[in-house]
Amino acid sequence: MIDKQSLHGEWSSRFAFILAATGSAVGLGNIWKFPYIAGENGGSAFVMVYVACVVLMGIPIMMAETMLGRRAKQNPVDTMRTLTQEAGADSRWQYLAWMGMVAGFLILSYYSVIAGWASAYTLKAVMGDFFGSNAEKTEVMFNDFISSPLRLIFWHSFFMLATMVIVSKGVRNGLEKAVQMLMPVLFIMMFLLVGYAMTTSGYQQGLHFLFSPDFSKITSKVVLTAMGQAFFSLGLGMGTMMIYGAYVPKNVSIGKSAIIVAGADTIVALLAGIAIFPIVFANGLHPDSGPGLVFETLPIAFGNMTGGWLFGVLFFLMLVVAALTSSIALIEPAVAWLIESKDMTRDQACVRAGLVAWALGFVTVFSFNRWADIHVFGHTLFELIDGLTANIMLPAGGLAIAIFAGWVMKQQHTVQELALPDSQYVIWKALISYVAPAGVFLIFLHVVGVL
Ligand code: PFF
Repeated sequence: MIDKQSLHGEWSSRFAFILAATGSAVGLGNIWKFPYIAGENGGSAFVMVYVACVVLMGIPIMMAETMLGRRAKQNPVDTMRTLTQEAGADSRWQYLAWMGMVAGFLILSYYSVIAGWASAYTLKAVMGDFFGSNAEKTEVMFNDFISSPLRLIFWHSFFMLATMVIVSKGVRNGLEKAVQMLMPVLFIMMFLLVGYAMTTSGYQQGLHFLFSPDFSKITSKVVLTAMGQAFFSLGLGMGTMMIYGAYVPKNVSIGKSAIIVAGADTIVALLAGIAIFPIVFANGLHPDSGPGLVFETLPIAFGNMTGGWLFGVLFFLMLVVAALTSSIALIEPAVAWLIESKDMTRDQACVRAGLVAWALGFVTVFSFNRWADIHVFGHTLFELIDGLTANIMLPAGGLAIAIFAGWVMKQQHTVQELALPDSQYVIWKALISYVAPAGVFLIFLHVVGVL
């Protein structure tokens, strides 16, 4: 049995780990991305497939990824190296960790740009720019905002710098502290916005759009996007849960933690949808208006509700903090690897990794203005990076993790790490060995047209 401490320390408690993992999971993916891709993919059809993916693939893979990290207690590359040796398996399994780190950089590069939008909108909220908003005003405001590369670069740089500063402070001081206050406040804000949505004329239509089952709208694109979103939103398949798992003390139940984290993540995404779509319908906006959706809808709510100024400021501030707790999770695998394998200090590692992601972010910045007309396979460059990472790299990483945990690792080791009652272990084992890998694989095959 491997018995060592992570170089970077441990979470102080189970609660601290759950908070950090929830911080990684809950972010722009829930509040910005979930509503707009649900809107583009038929609403309820998407939501149904999404929830199924979270339960059948997301939770078991989250448990597996955390377990791998806790067993080896290193960065993802060395974790995979140690565990393949322990299992007597092929050393090429470590490519899984490499792919995860590349995915992390690509995601962080655009994540920081969008988080920059949220930062700019926090300032707009403070300045009272939403007062008396309507659909036309918010659309003009958003389009005007993203048309300026310099402005986007400024906010992108601001956010990336904040990420680097927090990550440089390490596990306990940086990561733990940052998430401790946020989650409860975020939940309260979401309920408040749902409360406002209930008062609009579009409430019934919004609920209908999200929840009344419509199987006819399930296409292979809907299924692929929903699966990708499940991985993205839970923060799976790229080594984050492995590195967060490395900091988990031995006595923490991985199964319970995964269910709590996935549950909280799904609730926040659904609340965001319930808050946003009624406003969309009540104001004649379109559900499929793309990445600007949340920025074009919620300011209308804040501009017209009592206390809207305060709630607007708080909401966008929360969104920025939620994005920060995810961006630190996106960069941490690479930072841990640079420290452990390249002998860098934490500060040096943060600066290097942050600069690479920052530079890559320019592609996303320009894809909303100067390069907006450049299309590859019918997609803008931003859509391409997003699709490649969320819909392909993360599920592929998840597939590999499932196969490794279900088929390559010795059963006695998984039993020992998960410490589940027999009946629950059997369920996990069936999901991780058969259901999750088959699900990802079949969806891939279907999308490339083989099935
Ligand atoms: N889960 C985050 C979100 O929904 O915004 C994004 C993310 C974080 C993806 C960490 C992947 C990851 F490893």
